[in-house]
Amino acid sequence: MRRIYLDYAATTPVHPDVLEAMLPYFNQSFGNPSAIYSYGQEARSAVDQARESLAALIGCRSEEIIFTSGGTEADNMALTGVLMANEKKGNHIITCAIEHHAILETCHQLEKRGYKVSYLPVDSDGLVSPDDVRQAITPQTVLVSIALANNEIGTIQPIAGISKVAKEAGVLLHTDAVQAVGRIPVDVSELGVDLLSISSHKLYGPKGVGALYVKKGTRISPILYGGGQERGRRSGTENTAGIVGLGKAAALAHQSLAKEAERLTALRERLIDSILGGIDHSRLNGHRQQRLPNNANFGFDFVEGESIVLNLDLKGICASTGSACSSASLEPSHVLLALGIPAQQAHGSLRLTLGRLTTDEDIDTVLEVLPLIIARLRAMSPLLKKSQPAC
Ligand SMILES: Cc1ncc(COP(=O)(O)O)c(C=O)c1O
Repeated sequence: MRRIYLDYAATTPVHPDVLEAMLPYFNQSFGNPSAIYSYGQEARSAVDQARESLAALIGCRSEEIIFTSGGTEADNMALTGVLMANEKKGNHIITCAIEHHAILETCHQLEKRGYKVSYLPVDSDGLVSPDDVRQAITPQTVLVSIALANNEIGTIQPIAGISKVAKEAGVLLHTDAVQAVGRIPVDVSELGVDLLSISSHKLYGPKGVGALYVKKGTRISPILYGGGQERGRRSGTENTAGIVGLGKAAALAHQSLAKEAERLTALRERLIDSILGGIDHSRLNGHRQQRLPNNANFGFDFVEGESIVLNLDLKGICASTGSACSSASLEPSHVLLALGIPAQQAHGSLRLTLGRLTTDEDIDTVLEVLPLIIARLRAMSPLLKKSQPAC
């Protein structure tokens, strides 16, 4: 059976050129980048080159990049590191209700340690209002952290507008750009952010590597201590092959991003229009225009998202109900609930995220298969029967 992968928000396949670039750093130029002999220096120069590629993709200086073990560590470091380094200034952080668990769980831990967190609401499209940010800022506020693009519904936040508010108040701004980098143009100066998180495996690089952009002059404490790598900001022997992979993935994204975003937007639009037009009681979750080029998230009344995903899998189509991390739990998505969608409807969600290998034919197949699956599930659904008056 031909497999169709439509879960690029969960992870992406490593690009063949990325894999090729990484291979020598496992067993040829395998030296420790801190070693002064040639093996070590080859690894060091590869790490430096990757840092430059990534910096070029997001418009920063290479020394403003700290390599991490992924998006989760970058988020943890941004929040915990900034609060720890700015304890004299205050103890308050502002975030929003639809953030990824890497942010929300870090905030919960910080609350246990006595820090204060404000979780801003979002509107029915998932947008945070810069005015709400303004109103939430107190003299104790150190940091605002709002993701650039949501991982479930793809809504892109008005980060530049939020940055103006943060700057006026003298508060730092972090954005989790894990879903955005490589998919839409991301420029740290245009966004006006002080910190920005990146994950390699969302842009055709390997898993287990990522980065945190930290604007020059921003006070941040390490959260890992040891050998003082990454200029003392993130100890631990560098994951050379992974970092090389991320650098190569960044270079490839830089070249192909604009064209690929256009291609994926066209596929996404066809998918959205056909599904909303062809399946009754279906909705789009997230903002209609201000969304990632590759994200389509639907709500279908009277069915369970998990049943749709399992039935699609039987047809060789990989999709998801929401974020990969929470798809094992049967709790409705915190993101959909925050949009004001009732719990029962939030259970009927399906996220299709497109990518490099998605073709027109893949979309044709989904459009052929999905309406039949929804119709079959609805025919068996006690939810549908309950909603119809008995005659
Ligand atoms: C918005 C967002 N932030 C953070 C992460 C975590 O990144 P990583 O898997 O590299 O730890 C993810 C992964 O799904 C994500 O989508």
